[in-house]
Amino acid sequence: MTPALDDVLDRLVRDVEDWPEPGVLFRDVTPLLADPPALRVTVERLTELSSELADGPVDKVVGIEARGFILAVPVALALGAGFVPARKAGKLPATTHQVSYDLEYGSATLEMHTDALVPGERVVVLDDVLATGGTMAAVDELVAATGAEVVGNVTMLEIGPLGGRSRLPVGRFGTLRTY
Ligand code: PRP
Repeated sequence: MTPALDDVLDRLVRDVEDWPEPGVLFRDVTPLLADPPALRVTVERLTELSSELADGPVDKVVGIEARGFILAVPVALALGAGFVPARKAGKLPATTHQVSYDLEYGSATLEMHTDALVPGERVVVLDDVLATGGTMAAVDELVAATGAEVVGNVTMLEIGPLGGRSRLPVGRFGTLRTY
């Protein structure tokens, strides 16, 4: 029997206090990933949400390193789309576009191969969590640099008080749960 998504998220997203630093409540999705029915319903719902936002065909699903990769591949398969990785700096072998963005302390850089997408392709960007939105907004810039079009920004979880969705176009973001 397929479990209810809300029940799965209640039971299998684990709260870890003070990680990765004091004062932070980390939402750990590894118990959910380890549970076959929970993983199945989560991927199904992420696929439906991606289709709803795209409102048309999806050519590629871009997954964001590292936990975004885990979800983006099965969603891409379910949509009949290809998978493209957005990776942390220095990991991709061929020519890349790069975008740097601010973190609370310091900055980070993400890269995508310049030939991973072609102009006009319709792209869903997928990750596990939207927090400040800096990571997702940076990947939107990487997609735009190729001439492809982002038709959906999708995450499993959203940390609402951090306001990340305000960094994305209205109506293009979807999530399974907002904390
Ligand atoms: C986490 C998460 C998102 C990002 C969200 O990744 O998986 O990619 O942070 O944060 P933001 O909305 O504030 O930008 P993390 O950098 O921990 O990388 P990891 O998946 O490789 O652990």
